Amino acid sequence: MAKNYPHLAMPLPGPKAKAMIERDARVMSQNYSKDYPLVAARGEGVVIVDVDGNRFLDFGTGIAVTATGHSHPKVVDAIKKQAETFIHMCYTDFYYDNLITLGERLSKRGPAPGDWRVFFANSGAEVVEGAIKLARVVTGRQKVIGFYGAFHGRTYGAMSLTASKLVQKRGYAPFLPEVYHTHYANCYRCPVNKESGTCKLDCLDLLTETMFVHTVNPDEVAAIIVEPVQGEGGYVVPHPDFLKRLRELTRKYGILLIADEVQCGMGRTGKLFASEHFDLQPDIVTLAKGIASGMPLAALMARADVMKWNDGGHGSTFGGNPVSAAAALATLDLLEGGLIDNAAKVGKYLMDISKKTLGAHKCVGDVRGLGLMIGLDIVKDKATKEPDGATRLKIIQECFNRGLILIGCGKSTIRLAPALTIDTEDADIAVRILDEAMTALGV
Ligand SMILES: Cc1ncc(COP(=O)(O)O)c(C=O)c1O
Repeated sequence: MAKNYPHLAMPLPGPKAKAMIERDARVMSQNYSKDYPLVAARGEGVVIVDVDGNRFLDFGTGIAVTATGHSHPKVVDAIKKQAETFIHMCYTDFYYDNLITLGERLSKRGPAPGDWRVFFANSGAEVVEGAIKLARVVTGRQKVIGFYGAFHGRTYGAMSLTASKLVQKRGYAPFLPEVYHTHYANCYRCPVNKESGTCKLDCLDLLTETMFVHTVNPDEVAAIIVEPVQGEGGYVVPHPDFLKRLRELTRKYGILLIADEVQCGMGRTGKLFASEHFDLQPDIVTLAKGIASGMPLAALMARADVMKWNDGGHGSTFGGNPVSAAAALATLDLLEGGLIDNAAKVGKYLMDISKKTLGAHKCVGDVRGLGLMIGLDIVKDKATKEPDGATRLKIIQECFNRGLILIGCGKSTIRLAPALTIDTEDADIAVRILDEAMTALGV
């Protein structure tokens, strides 16, 4: 069936969008530089309708959040029913059924065998904070190690572990003490061919032969936090042995391994947990973004023997809000009812056509990803792979003017992070628009 999107009725931004952006400039904190002027009025599945009636195909999903598409009727219904029942109780002091049910379903389906427990919060940064606190209190150790390129959030602990863009930290020092960074498996840049099987994981040798020898006593490390697929850092899929070796190392030194699955979790990569692609069995997992299709909710999961807080040592007034929990249960039904499989299937299709059609453009240095978490690297030169952020911006803006919503990540990557509901026709439309935009720009 022919799709009725994208459909642009005027040059962008239209008059209503322009007027709203002027209002925003007068009163809102101007800390976000937006790449293009989209003013949303409505969301319907994979489509965003702006205030002037233009219809866009959404491949950004509010930074990989609206997993079931915009306002999925089953999610909306669950939200409405719960809102009519009660909106808030505070799980810190009381109990309610739907959050316990959600805890049961997540703990049964943990990223590794065994008994899992769940703590609910509101945002990715908040569960990363929780993970750091938990790792410290349960190990009695202080040091925490993260990776270059990682993004973990904007609060102080999460920001201290973030090592993505300088602007995210400039001016905000001092950071959390006892936080260190080392190299992630940026395989797509690694001189050793990742396909050849000759990878020696030099990236991890920097940890064991440099950091653990000269600066950090591994016996004092509480946790290493890793994104199984780096998100904000550029949609980077590590060499499969990287996470395996990391797990061996952490076990050797009694270090807890935290998998930050805030972006790559909840089915986006074609499995509920991205860790499953790598047979990674973390001790702690953080989830947020796609968990409740856009309602604020985050989950900190830990093996039962690790989830050992001092009583009253951690909490959150709004965490595990019942309306968000209702949305999460409906989301989980949809994910397990076929959307995770769809992400794997359509993700493979999108990857194949992106490699074939977009990979032929001289500006595309790499196409990589898992499921519906796909990154296109925009480069100055295919041979050197020098990042080209300026061209990335032009492509994203050109796509907006053709009705496709995209966002960037890393130095010059375009992320393809649509709803897990898309079909192959949506994938065709997105790749066609990207292809046309790159051709129009001569890149
Ligand atoms: C891997 C990862 N961790 C943590 C966060 C922080 O999440 P939030 O923005 O909900 O605080 C993000 C957000 O992009 C993320 O991608």
